[in-house]
Amino acid sequence: MLKKILKLDEELAQDVPRSHKVHSVAALFDTPDEITHAARETSNAGYDKFDVYTPYPLHGMDAAMRMKDTNIGKFAFLAGLTGITVAVSMIGWMSGIDYQNIIGGKPYFNLTASIPIMFELTILLTGLFCVFGMLLLWNKLPQISNPLHDTNFMKYASSTRFGVAIEAEDAQFDVEKVKAFLAGVGGKDIEVVYYPEENIQKTSPIFEKKFIYLLIVVAVVTALGGYGAIGKLVNILPFDWMHNQFRVNPQTRSDIFKDGRSMQRPVDGTVARGFMPYEYTGMPDSLVKLLSNPVPMNEFSIERGKKQYNTYCSPCHGYFGAGDSRMNNQFPNPPTLHSKKVRDWADGNIYNVMTNGQNVMPSYAKQISRDDRWAIVNYIRVLQRAENAKDTDLP
Ligand code: HEC
Repeated sequence: MLKKILKLDEELAQDVPRSHKVHSVAALFDTPDEITHAARETSNAGYDKFDVYTPYPLHGMDAAMRMKDTNIGKFAFLAGLTGITVAVSMIGWMSGIDYQNIIGGKPYFNLTASIPIMFELTILLTGLFCVFGMLLLWNKLPQISNPLHDTNFMKYASSTRFGVAIEAEDAQFDVEKVKAFLAGVGGKDIEVVYYPEENIQKTSPIFEKKFIYLLIVVAVVTALGGYGAIGKLVNILPFDWMHNQFRVNPQTRSDIFKDGRSMQRPVDGTVARGFMPYEYTGMPDSLVKLLSNPVPMNEFSIERGKKQYNTYCSPCHGYFGAGDSRMNNQFPNPPTLHSKKVRDWADGNIYNVMTNGQNVMPSYAKQISRDDRWAIVNYIRVLQRAENAKDTDLP
């Protein structure tokens, strides 16, 4: 049944033409015990270029074959060492010798500052070396097939039976002796495996001249095309999106102006559009109070003022203006906004403190827009009114 499903009794459909160069001698076994025994005998007989092929992993096979530890650890260590050496010498040369630059008062070459790069290059090279090492050294790219493929041996060794193949590369390899040896340890269907003809004659397709020429042509065409499009075409009318035009660049010389500078100060007294100059800086309170509040006292402006007050003022003045700040003595505690002084102040005076700051309190003119500052004044008025509610306020 199994044989039928696996089509084991049929001839191999696409047997590739084989040369006369021997790759290995292979034998099949029927049970796991037989193959384990054979593997042990093979390594005992001193063969070391051989491999065992089984449809599923067999416990104890590594020991029977006397498999040596892989070299991948040493390989990775050397790759990492290369990485760290490259990093240290690169940074040492660049910042220590070639382009000395004082950064933060540290020595030109600073080990601690270089550690991230050393770490990165170490793992980068370890990773790359291991991946490409695996592909080229262990997986033997660019060779993309193994002579054991498409043999009767492999057909069974990968399905219902177990196989061992002793390779011709082994120092004591001799076809007849190996055949006799395998028969002696109980091997059946002993088969000499030859290299496929194409494996010997042809180099891998990626090394064919045609392919390499094609690669070069594609590289040159892409490079020239990219350079032409990005470096040249965009500077030619009408593709240049007007980036070539007569103009004066900032921070350059210009003969248009007397002082030879391209950048000029605005004429004295100029007011930018949409900008409202504040002319009360340094004015006495008696004058400041003449400023009138342009933002009407209504639900909307109070809500707006509350939001802005809670954001900008409450960290110091507290949510209700009592001066009990969250900053709690990390900054001079501000006075209460419910004092008689502030209650008696005109809106303009409060606005003026926000705009100019007062002693240690900084100006908030840059953070809070003009109208929002007036809205905050409205909200402070609400806080003050709430603090001084009277019985008669109740309906
Ligand atoms: C960084 C903390 C801090 C922030 C934030 C802050 N203030 Fe002040 N404020 C103070 C201090 C401190 C004083 C007292 C300054 C002084 O010594 O005259 C003060 C004083 C004031 C006064 C004058 C009180 C008086 O009796 O002289 C007003 C009004 C005022 N702040 C309103 C505001 C408003 C409105 C905001 C939000 C836009 C605000 N403050 C944000 C710290 C702050």
